[in-house]
Amino acid sequence: ALVKDVRFVTGGVSMGTLPTDPLPEVAFVGRSNVGKSSLVNMVLGRRALAYTSKTPGKTQQYNYFLINEGRDEGVFHLVDMPGLGYAQADSKKRKEWVRFFGEYVRQRQQLRLFVHLIDGEIGLLDTDLEIMKLAAEVSKDECRWQYALILTKVDKRKGKAKANVYASVMDAVEKFGCDIGDRIIQTSARTKLGRADAWRLLRPVVLP
Ligand code: GTP
Ligand code: MG
Repeated sequence: ALVKDVRFVTGGVSMGTLPTDPLPEVAFVGRSNVGKSSLVNMVLGRRALAYTSKTPGKTQQYNYFLINEGRDEGVFHLVDMPGLGYAQADSKKRKEWVRFFGEYVRQRQQLRLFVHLIDGEIGLLDTDLEIMKLAAEVSKDECRWQYALILTKVDKRKGKAKANVYASVMDAVEKFGCDIGDRIIQTSARTKLGRADAWRLLRPVVLP
């Protein structure tokens, strides 16, 4: 397995509080409740490393997990982010989070892979369109990181409904001019579907 060991490092709340070591990092981005923390656990093969909840707003900091510490290869950070567009947070806090996120995406040198999670049951929400817009904008002049998409919770959708979400996501990708290449996959943290596909996305970052 690629994951020999995992350690929680820190919860960052601003650019100045993120780890300073130059390890490559993968960030799981998306709206509240989309399944970021659940996917961290699935990808790392740990049941309850990242805390999940059916109530949105569970993850409140940029939670850094260090994978394969001290080994010769496959050492990286996986970042479980707070949900964007979390309606219950007060507006001052929301503004702060949006600003921090913009800084992170534009300035974080260690960022290699920006993984945007979209709810495979619900489909695109305004927050997703904002994330896509930002990703497309920033990646025009920055090539530090690649953009990838994951449709989560696909166990909740079947057949035609699933195809419709996929098609609308691809329309938006085209509209905003996001460069995803073939970096779009579908996952279920419930059935563990898509774990190998997720590693196909992470592999170029983890083992360059
Ligand atoms: P915040 O930290 O609040 O931003 O949420 P999050 O994006 O980290 O979501 P989290 O992983 O906490 O999951 C939210 C809810 O969705 C939990 O009740 C999970 O059990 C559920 N969930 C996550 N992934 C899946 C999935 O693949 N299938 C199903 N059926 N439920 C899922
Ligand atoms: Mg979370």
